[in-house]
Amino acid sequence: MSSSSSAIESVLVENRVFEPDARAREGARIAGMDAYQALCDEAAKDFEGFWARRAREQLQWTKPFTKTLDESNAPFYQWFADGELNASANCLDRHVGTPVENKTAIIFEADDGTVTHVTYKELLARVGQFANALKAQGIAKGDRVVIYMPMGVEGVVAMQACARIGATHSVVFGGFSAKALQERIIDAGAVAVITANFQLRGGKEMPLKAIVDDAVAMGGCDTLKTVLVYERTASAWNRVEGRDKTFAEVLAGQSSECAPVPVGAEHPLFILYTSGSTGKPKGVQHATGGYLLWARLSMQWSFDIRPEDVFWCTADIGWVTGHSYIVYGPLAAGVTQVVFEGVPTYPHAGRFWQMIERHKVSVFYTAPTAIRSLIKASDSDAKVHPKNWDLTSLRILGSVGEPINPEAWMWYYRNVGGERCPIVDTWWQTETGGHVINPLPGATPLVPGSCTLPLPGMQAAIVDETGHDMPNGSGGMLVIKRPWPSMIRTIWNDPERFKKSYFPEEMGGRIYLAGDGAVRDAKTGYFRITGRIDDVLNVSGHRLGTMEIESALVAKTDLVAEAAVVGRPDDLTGEAICAFVVLKRGRPTGEEAKAIANELRNWVAKEIGPIAKPKDIRFGDNLPKTRSGKIMRRLLRSIAKGEAITQDTSTLENPAILDQLAETN
Ligand code: WTA
Repeated sequence: MSSSSSAIESVLVENRVFEPDARAREGARIAGMDAYQALCDEAAKDFEGFWARRAREQLQWTKPFTKTLDESNAPFYQWFADGELNASANCLDRHVGTPVENKTAIIFEADDGTVTHVTYKELLARVGQFANALKAQGIAKGDRVVIYMPMGVEGVVAMQACARIGATHSVVFGGFSAKALQERIIDAGAVAVITANFQLRGGKEMPLKAIVDDAVAMGGCDTLKTVLVYERTASAWNRVEGRDKTFAEVLAGQSSECAPVPVGAEHPLFILYTSGSTGKPKGVQHATGGYLLWARLSMQWSFDIRPEDVFWCTADIGWVTGHSYIVYGPLAAGVTQVVFEGVPTYPHAGRFWQMIERHKVSVFYTAPTAIRSLIKASDSDAKVHPKNWDLTSLRILGSVGEPINPEAWMWYYRNVGGERCPIVDTWWQTETGGHVINPLPGATPLVPGSCTLPLPGMQAAIVDETGHDMPNGSGGMLVIKRPWPSMIRTIWNDPERFKKSYFPEEMGGRIYLAGDGAVRDAKTGYFRITGRIDDVLNVSGHRLGTMEIESALVAKTDLVAEAAVVGRPDDLTGEAICAFVVLKRGRPTGEEAKAIANELRNWVAKEIGPIAKPKDIRFGDNLPKTRSGKIMRRLLRSIAKGEAITQDTSTLENPAILDQLAETN
């Protein structure tokens, strides 16, 4: 039995329960299940009042709101719509004149281990100066700005500076290709791109600015006027006169004081592209007020953040986790956080543990994929095992992005948390803006592999195709039945797709469909996420659409006639990408097949990014199709897993193709 199937088995029979210890409970904001239940009851009794009170307590409004939730144009829900505020002021200015002002906001550790501390006051000055520089470039409220930056203080400053002047940022992960970047610049109608000459990761210098040039050279970026370049390294880069300016050039002479521009609560704070079940990535649009409320409050509830904490979220600012739990939540909550430029395995796979010791991290938030790869590394090299470092500063551990298998959970709990630290397994999505289902460290008894219960105010449920509740113990579709402040507002440029993707008519058009399958425990009602039910894959916690990868493959028109992509379970990356390809020429075998598979992998990396490279590529004379020409993906999924086909294949036009595709080359 492979370890992934044993992992699934042990989820099903999982009956270990870990109660929060006294240290986690003492002084906790939500201490004990009664306190949790009281908040849930408050939300159930007076839903709008519950959120209105939180929004008034948590945020500083320049104009108070009078209406909490507007459902008149559902599912285009609006929250606190007549209120005004500024997100950057709520992350930085709010701390001026408080003890937080002189506290370290960011401990930046560079790829090479160099450490820089930035206080809240200093960060405010840097954001103000950068905001003034953006204004001097003619960038104003409502403009869209694409940010294509490495991990570092500058990326955080760029995002906060956009928010300060009411410009809507759209961060593109630094691992995405020129093509992906071009599509996002065009769809967002960006007037500027903020980038760096190079990024440093794992001791290697990789171009960023050159990729921006490639993206623009592909054409169509007609709205783009300015490219701002942070010179991360001393290496030379190619300047496009009139369009490109360095950070040093635009910052020179700018004052560090810039009054934050108040915006309506529904003003788009950012657009973040994510994969869906059709080819084109979706621009998930988030609103300023509701998003920020939840970024701050979920920091307090889920991580029970305290003034002396050192928080570290290892995500990249290119993903939603980096938005909510690096750029907005921790700053709004006034916590000290670590920002890391590098990778967990450089210069050795003990880097995370070494950094926790070095910076006395107390709340650590990472992804199951990272944990699994570090388990593997420390199994083969005892020198990088967490036991070699002092991790006693840790108080709370978090997990995000994919299901955490109980084995990885137990290892994390024992070897990193020393059996003292609750593991907060957080289920949420780009669309939800922040946490939806997770334990509260001072309250919820933990079960490895379960994200436990919804946060107060979050009406998560499991339903059938028609939106009716499934009984506990039976699996179904994960939904959220009532709107919540940090929810997606629309898909940028595509409101129809927003309605269709998330609020299906069959369920009445008002229930948010997450796209995940889930089951609640028969006794405890605890949720366990079983994975996506649509054509979205989760590879190392990165979200990718199968159609997106298929489109990339068939775009290689000189070679590929047809392609189908499915996921299969993978011990390390959670899921792995498996592509079935029909070439325009005959089916290759042996060395030729290997060479073409490599060529296609590199092609996909160029079209989307290295994270989308298929692990397996299999060639066939055809794909398994029904008589009406529909590709039978469930058969491909079985083949990808190496399973014998037990499904009914009688509707198949070409059953013989299954044996051919099952051959590994
Ligand atoms: C998956 C990342 C199980 C899920 C924050 C979801 C999870 C998708 C968990 C969203 C978890 C995220 N347990 N699965 N704790 N967290 N997922 O938009 O399939 O990049 O739909 O947001 O990741 O991925 P996204």
